[in-house]
Amino acid sequence: MIVDRFGRRFRNLRVSLTAACNYACTYCVPDGKRLLPADHELSADELVYAVRLLVDAAGIEKVRITGGEPLLSPKFDALLPAVMQLPLQDVSVTTNGQLILRKLDVILGAGLSRINVSLDTLDAERFRQIARGGDLETVLAGIEALRAAGLAIKINMVPMRTRNADQILPLLDYCLERGFELRFIELMSMGHLRHGNAFGRDFFGMNEILELISTRYAFTRTDAPYDSTAVRFAIPDAGTFGVIANETEPFCSACTRLRLASNGFLYGCLSNAASHDIRPILLEPEHQALARLQSLLVRALADKQDLSFKGEVTVMKFIGG
Ligand code: 5AD
Repeated sequence: MIVDRFGRRFRNLRVSLTAACNYACTYCVPDGKRLLPADHELSADELVYAVRLLVDAAGIEKVRITGGEPLLSPKFDALLPAVMQLPLQDVSVTTNGQLILRKLDVILGAGLSRINVSLDTLDAERFRQIARGGDLETVLAGIEALRAAGLAIKINMVPMRTRNADQILPLLDYCLERGFELRFIELMSMGHLRHGNAFGRDFFGMNEILELISTRYAFTRTDAPYDSTAVRFAIPDAGTFGVIANETEPFCSACTRLRLASNGFLYGCLSNAASHDIRPILLEPEHQALARLQSLLVRALADKQDLSFKGEVTVMKFIGG
Protein backbone atom coordinates (compact mmCIF):
# COMPACT_ATOMS: atom_id res chain seq x y z
CA MET A 1 0.00 0.00 0.00
CA ILE A 2 1.37 3.40 -0.99
CA VAL A 3 0.73 6.07 1.65
CA ASP A 4 2.02 9.67 1.76
CA ARG A 5 3.01 11.94 4.65
CA PHE A 6 -0.59 13.04 5.15
CA GLY A 7 -1.67 9.40 5.45
CA ARG A 8 -3.32 9.61 2.05
CA ARG A 9 -3.60 6.66 -0.27
CA PHE A 10 -5.61 6.01 -3.41
CA ARG A 11 -8.98 4.42 -2.60
CA ASN A 12 -11.28 6.02 -5.17
CA LEU A 13 -10.71 5.74 -8.89
CA ARG A 14 -12.52 7.92 -11.40
CA VAL A 15 -12.43 6.51 -14.90
CA SER A 16 -13.17 8.80 -17.84
CA LEU A 17 -14.60 6.73 -20.69
CA THR A 18 -14.35 9.48 -23.24
CA ALA A 19 -13.52 13.18 -23.30
CA ALA A 20 -16.46 13.77 -25.65
CA CYS A 21 -19.60 15.47 -24.36
CA ASN A 22 -23.00 16.32 -25.83
CA TYR A 23 -23.16 19.52 -23.75
CA ALA A 24 -20.94 22.60 -23.84
CA CYS A 25 -21.49 23.95 -20.32
CA THR A 26 -20.39 27.54 -19.84
CA TYR A 27 -18.13 26.67 -16.91
CA CYS A 28 -16.45 23.86 -18.82
CA VAL A 29 -15.81 25.17 -22.34
CA PRO A 30 -15.49 28.84 -23.23
CA ASP A 31 -16.77 29.01 -26.79
CA GLY A 32 -19.77 26.70 -26.83
CA LYS A 33 -17.88 24.02 -28.71
CA ARG A 34 -18.57 20.49 -27.54
CA LEU A 35 -15.67 18.38 -26.36
CA LEU A 36 -14.37 15.76 -28.76
CA PRO A 37 -12.92 12.35 -28.01
CA ALA A 38 -9.25 12.47 -26.99
CA ASP A 39 -6.65 11.11 -29.40
CA HIS A 40 -5.90 7.46 -28.74
CA GLU A 41 -8.70 6.65 -26.34
CA LEU A 42 -8.36 3.28 -24.65
CA SER A 43 -10.75 0.53 -25.74
CA ALA A 44 -13.31 -0.88 -23.31
CA ASP A 45 -11.11 -3.98 -22.82
CA GLU A 46 -8.03 -1.85 -22.11
CA LEU A 47 -9.96 0.29 -19.66
CA VAL A 48 -11.27 -2.76 -17.79
CA TYR A 49 -7.76 -4.26 -17.65
CA ALA A 50 -6.37 -0.93 -16.40
CA VAL A 51 -9.03 -0.75 -13.68
CA ARG A 52 -8.33 -4.34 -12.65
CA LEU A 53 -4.59 -3.61 -12.35
CA LEU A 54 -5.24 -0.42 -10.40
CA VAL A 55 -7.53 -2.25 -7.98
CA ASP A 56 -4.61 -4.60 -7.22
CA ALA A 57 -1.72 -2.13 -7.36
CA ALA A 58 -3.31 0.79 -5.51
CA GLY A 59 -5.94 -0.87 -3.34
CA ILE A 60 -8.82 0.88 -5.10
CA GLU A 61 -12.15 0.22 -3.37
CA LYS A 62 -14.52 2.49 -5.25
CA VAL A 63 -14.84 3.28 -8.93
CA ARG A 64 -16.77 6.11 -10.54
CA ILE A 65 -17.33 6.13 -14.28
CA THR A 66 -17.21 9.65 -15.76
CA GLY A 67 -16.41 11.50 -18.98
CA GLY A 68 -16.81 13.86 -20.85
CA GLU A 69 -20.21 12.25 -20.91
CA PRO A 70 -19.81 8.51 -20.26
CA LEU A 71 -23.20 7.46 -21.65
CA LEU A 72 -22.20 8.96 -25.00
CA SER A 73 -19.47 6.35 -25.43
CA PRO A 74 -20.30 2.97 -27.02
CA LYS A 75 -17.73 1.57 -24.54
CA PHE A 76 -20.15 2.19 -21.68
CA ASP A 77 -22.25 -0.89 -22.53
CA ALA A 78 -19.32 -3.29 -22.04
CA LEU A 79 -17.42 -1.37 -19.38
CA LEU A 80 -20.16 -0.95 -16.79
CA PRO A 81 -21.02 -4.67 -16.44
CA ALA A 82 -17.30 -5.58 -16.43
CA VAL A 83 -16.46 -3.08 -13.69
CA MET A 84 -19.46 -4.27 -11.68
CA GLN A 85 -17.87 -7.74 -11.64
CA LEU A 86 -14.64 -6.52 -10.01
CA PRO A 87 -14.12 -6.89 -6.24
CA LEU A 88 -15.12 -3.33 -5.31
CA GLN A 89 -17.15 -1.83 -2.46
CA ASP A 90 -18.89 0.60 -4.71
CA VAL A 91 -19.41 1.48 -8.37
CA SER A 92 -21.16 4.61 -9.52
CA VAL A 93 -21.61 6.73 -12.63
CA THR A 94 -21.66 10.50 -13.14
CA THR A 95 -23.76 11.58 -16.11
CA ASN A 96 -25.47 14.68 -17.46
CA GLY A 97 -28.58 12.52 -17.81
CA GLN A 98 -29.32 13.21 -21.46
CA LEU A 99 -28.96 9.57 -22.55
CA ILE A 100 -30.30 7.75 -19.49
CA LEU A 101 -33.44 6.53 -21.26
CA ARG A 102 -31.41 5.12 -24.13
CA LYS A 103 -29.00 3.35 -21.76
CA LEU A 104 -31.58 2.22 -19.21
CA ASP A 105 -31.28 -1.47 -20.12
CA VAL A 106 -27.49 -1.36 -19.76
CA ILE A 107 -27.67 0.47 -16.42
CA LEU A 108 -30.32 -1.78 -14.91
CA GLY A 109 -28.91 -4.94 -16.50
CA ALA A 110 -25.53 -4.30 -14.88
CA GLY A 111 -27.18 -3.90 -11.49
CA LEU A 112 -25.98 -0.37 -10.79
CA SER A 113 -27.49 0.78 -7.50
CA ARG A 114 -26.62 4.49 -7.47
CA ILE A 115 -25.95 7.31 -9.89
CA ASN A 116 -25.06 11.02 -9.90
CA VAL A 117 -26.82 13.25 -12.40
CA SER A 118 -25.61 16.79 -13.10
CA LEU A 119 -28.46 19.28 -13.16
CA ASP A 120 -27.82 23.00 -12.78
CA THR A 121 -31.37 24.32 -13.21
CA LEU A 122 -35.03 23.28 -13.50
CA ASP A 123 -35.77 26.07 -15.96
CA ALA A 124 -35.73 24.96 -19.61
CA GLU A 125 -34.50 28.25 -21.04
CA ARG A 126 -31.75 28.60 -18.44
CA PHE A 127 -30.82 24.98 -19.08
CA ARG A 128 -30.17 25.80 -22.73
CA GLN A 129 -28.06 28.81 -21.75
CA ILE A 130 -25.87 26.87 -19.33
CA ALA A 131 -25.57 23.44 -20.96
CA ARG A 132 -25.74 24.66 -24.58
CA GLY A 133 -26.87 21.20 -25.60
CA GLY A 134 -29.44 18.61 -24.64
CA ASP A 135 -32.87 19.23 -23.24
CA LEU A 136 -34.21 19.49 -19.69
CA GLU A 137 -37.33 17.33 -20.11
CA THR A 138 -35.26 14.41 -21.39
CA VAL A 139 -33.01 14.59 -18.34
CA LEU A 140 -35.95 14.76 -15.93
CA ALA A 141 -37.61 11.77 -17.63
CA GLY A 142 -34.36 9.82 -17.38
CA ILE A 143 -34.05 10.62 -13.68
CA GLU A 144 -37.66 9.50 -13.10
CA ALA A 145 -36.97 6.18 -14.85
CA LEU A 146 -33.97 5.51 -12.59
CA ARG A 147 -35.96 6.49 -9.53
CA ALA A 148 -38.78 4.13 -10.54
CA ALA A 149 -36.17 1.36 -10.87
CA GLY A 150 -35.05 2.03 -7.29
CA LEU A 151 -31.59 3.57 -7.83
CA ALA A 152 -30.25 5.96 -5.20
CA ILE A 153 -29.86 9.31 -6.92
CA LYS A 154 -27.59 12.26 -6.23
CA ILE A 155 -28.00 15.49 -8.16
CA ASN A 156 -24.90 17.65 -8.79
CA MET A 157 -25.50 21.38 -9.11
CA VAL A 158 -22.83 24.03 -9.71
CA PRO A 159 -24.33 27.27 -8.31
CA MET A 160 -23.26 30.41 -10.16
CA ARG A 161 -24.20 33.87 -8.96
CA THR A 162 -25.33 35.31 -12.29
CA ARG A 163 -26.69 32.15 -13.88
CA ASN A 164 -28.53 29.84 -11.51
CA ALA A 165 -28.19 30.89 -7.85
CA ASP A 166 -31.98 31.42 -7.84
CA GLN A 167 -32.36 27.73 -8.71
CA ILE A 168 -30.83 26.55 -5.43
CA LEU A 169 -34.13 26.40 -3.52
CA PRO A 170 -36.22 25.00 -6.41
CA LEU A 171 -33.64 22.25 -6.95
CA LEU A 172 -33.46 21.52 -3.24
CA ASP A 173 -37.27 21.18 -3.08
CA TYR A 174 -37.24 18.96 -6.16
CA CYS A 175 -34.64 16.67 -4.55
CA LEU A 176 -36.19 16.57 -1.08
CA GLU A 177 -39.61 15.67 -2.54
CA ARG A 178 -38.06 12.70 -4.33
CA GLY A 179 -35.58 11.49 -1.74
CA PHE A 180 -32.55 12.54 -3.82
CA GLU A 181 -29.42 14.02 -2.27
CA LEU A 182 -28.53 17.38 -3.77
CA ARG A 183 -24.81 18.16 -3.95
CA PHE A 184 -23.81 21.77 -4.46
CA ILE A 185 -20.39 21.89 -6.09
CA GLU A 186 -18.53 25.14 -5.50
CA LEU A 187 -17.36 26.49 -8.83
CA MET A 188 -13.76 25.42 -9.40
CA SER A 189 -11.20 27.56 -11.11
CA MET A 190 -10.60 25.09 -13.92
CA GLY A 191 -9.88 25.43 -17.62
CA HIS A 192 -10.88 28.79 -19.09
CA LEU A 193 -12.13 29.98 -15.67
CA ARG A 194 -8.46 30.41 -14.72
CA HIS A 195 -8.51 33.53 -16.87
CA GLY A 196 -10.91 36.46 -17.15
CA ASN A 197 -13.51 37.45 -14.57
CA ALA A 198 -16.20 34.75 -14.86
CA PHE A 199 -14.92 32.79 -11.85
CA GLY A 200 -14.82 35.82 -9.54
CA ARG A 201 -18.21 37.00 -10.76
CA ASP A 202 -20.00 33.66 -10.54
CA PHE A 203 -18.38 31.95 -7.54
CA PHE A 204 -21.19 31.31 -5.05
CA GLY A 205 -19.71 29.60 -2.01
CA MET A 206 -20.96 27.38 0.78
CA ASN A 207 -21.71 30.21 3.21
CA GLU A 208 -23.96 31.97 0.74
CA ILE A 209 -25.63 28.71 -0.23
CA LEU A 210 -26.37 27.91 3.42
CA GLU A 211 -27.65 31.40 4.09
CA LEU A 212 -30.10 31.07 1.23
CA ILE A 213 -31.27 27.62 2.35
CA SER A 214 -31.75 28.85 5.92
CA THR A 215 -34.47 31.20 4.66
CA ARG A 216 -36.61 28.12 4.03
CA TYR A 217 -35.21 25.21 6.05
CA ALA A 218 -33.62 24.52 9.42
CA PHE A 219 -30.67 22.15 9.04
CA THR A 220 -27.75 20.74 10.99
CA ARG A 221 -24.29 19.80 9.84
CA THR A 222 -23.62 16.06 10.08
CA ASP A 223 -20.35 14.19 10.02
CA ALA A 224 -19.15 13.06 6.63
CA PRO A 225 -16.87 10.02 6.21
CA TYR A 226 -13.14 10.85 6.50
CA ASP A 227 -12.35 11.06 2.79
CA SER A 228 -15.69 12.35 1.57
CA THR A 229 -15.35 15.50 -0.49
CA ALA A 230 -18.76 16.72 0.67
CA VAL A 231 -19.78 18.59 3.80
CA ARG A 232 -23.18 17.10 4.64
CA PHE A 233 -26.32 18.58 6.19
CA ALA A 234 -29.59 17.10 7.44
CA ILE A 235 -32.95 18.82 7.27
CA PRO A 236 -35.01 17.13 10.01
CA ASP A 237 -37.84 15.03 8.59
CA ALA A 238 -37.11 16.20 5.05
CA GLY A 239 -33.77 14.77 3.85
CA THR A 240 -30.12 15.63 3.38
CA PHE A 241 -27.93 17.73 1.12
CA GLY A 242 -24.20 18.29 0.72
CA VAL A 243 -21.71 20.91 -0.40
CA ILE A 244 -18.47 20.12 -2.19
CA ALA A 245 -16.70 23.11 -0.67
CA ASN A 246 -13.37 22.92 -2.46
CA GLU A 247 -12.71 26.63 -1.89
CA THR A 248 -14.42 27.26 1.45
CA GLU A 249 -13.26 24.08 3.19
CA PRO A 250 -10.58 22.41 1.05
CA PHE A 251 -10.38 18.65 1.49
CA CYS A 252 -7.04 18.05 -0.23
CA SER A 253 -5.38 16.67 2.91
CA ALA A 254 -7.86 13.78 2.99
CA CYS A 255 -8.18 13.25 -0.77
CA THR A 256 -8.01 9.60 -1.84
CA ARG A 257 -8.89 10.10 -5.49
CA LEU A 258 -7.03 8.84 -8.52
CA ARG A 259 -8.13 9.63 -12.06
CA LEU A 260 -7.69 7.68 -15.27
CA ALA A 261 -8.28 9.77 -18.39
CA SER A 262 -9.74 8.15 -21.49
CA ASN A 263 -6.39 8.31 -23.30
CA GLY A 264 -4.66 6.18 -20.64
CA PHE A 265 -3.06 8.90 -18.51
CA LEU A 266 -3.28 8.78 -14.72
CA TYR A 267 -3.76 11.98 -12.69
CA GLY A 268 -3.03 12.01 -8.95
CA CYS A 269 -4.59 15.43 -8.42
CA LEU A 270 -7.36 17.44 -10.09
CA SER A 271 -5.39 20.59 -9.34
CA ASN A 272 -2.20 19.45 -11.07
CA ALA A 273 -1.73 18.84 -14.80
CA ALA A 274 1.00 16.24 -14.14
CA SER A 275 -0.02 12.92 -15.68
CA HIS A 276 1.42 9.46 -16.16
CA ASP A 277 0.96 7.33 -19.27
CA ILE A 278 -0.07 3.78 -18.41
CA ARG A 279 -0.51 2.54 -21.98
CA PRO A 280 2.96 0.93 -22.17
CA ILE A 281 2.22 -0.86 -18.89
CA LEU A 282 -0.95 -2.40 -20.32
CA LEU A 283 1.21 -4.33 -22.80
CA GLU A 284 3.27 -6.04 -20.09
CA PRO A 285 2.56 -9.41 -18.51
CA GLU A 286 0.50 -8.90 -15.39
CA HIS A 287 3.16 -9.26 -12.66
CA GLN A 288 5.49 -6.82 -14.44
CA ALA A 289 2.61 -4.46 -15.12
CA LEU A 290 1.74 -4.41 -11.43
CA ALA A 291 5.33 -3.64 -10.39
CA ARG A 292 5.66 -0.79 -12.89
CA LEU A 293 2.28 0.56 -11.91
CA GLN A 294 3.36 0.66 -8.25
CA SER A 295 6.26 2.98 -8.98
CA LEU A 296 4.09 5.15 -11.18
CA LEU A 297 1.49 5.41 -8.39
CA VAL A 298 4.16 6.68 -5.99
CA ARG A 299 4.75 9.57 -8.39
CA ALA A 300 1.02 10.17 -8.93
CA LEU A 301 0.44 10.35 -5.16
CA ALA A 302 3.23 12.94 -4.88
CA ASP A 303 1.31 15.11 -7.38
CA LYS A 304 -1.41 15.84 -4.80
CA GLN A 305 -1.66 19.34 -3.31
CA ASP A 306 -0.77 19.70 0.35
CA LEU A 307 -3.74 21.64 1.57
CA SER A 308 -5.66 23.85 -0.78
CA PHE A 309 -7.22 23.46 -4.17
CA LYS A 310 -5.57 25.75 -6.71
CA GLY A 311 -7.30 24.85 -9.95
CA GLU A 312 -5.70 23.87 -13.22
CA VAL A 313 -5.88 24.97 -16.83
CA THR A 314 -6.37 21.71 -18.62
CA VAL A 315 -7.63 18.87 -16.59
CA MET A 316 -11.33 18.99 -15.67
CA LYS A 317 -13.01 19.13 -19.01
CA PHE A 318 -11.55 15.90 -20.09
CA ILE A 319 -11.40 13.93 -16.89
CA GLY A 320 -14.88 14.62 -15.66
CA GLY A 321 -14.29 16.19 -12.26
N1 5AD B 1 -16.47 23.75 -11.20
C1 5AD B 1 -17.31 22.97 -10.49
N2 5AD B 1 -17.91 21.88 -10.97
C2 5AD B 1 -17.67 21.57 -12.25
N3 5AD B 1 -18.11 20.55 -13.00
C3 5AD B 1 -17.56 20.66 -14.22
N4 5AD B 1 -16.76 21.74 -14.28
C4 5AD B 1 -16.81 22.33 -13.07
C5 5AD B 1 -16.20 23.48 -12.48
N5 5AD B 1 -15.36 24.27 -13.17
C6 5AD B 1 -19.04 19.55 -12.49
C7 5AD B 1 -20.08 19.11 -13.46
C8 5AD B 1 -20.43 17.73 -12.95
C9 5AD B 1 -19.27 17.33 -12.08
C10 5AD B 1 -18.64 16.04 -12.47
O1 5AD B 1 -18.33 18.37 -12.17
O2 5AD B 1 -21.21 19.93 -13.43
O3 5AD B 1 -21.60 17.73 -12.18
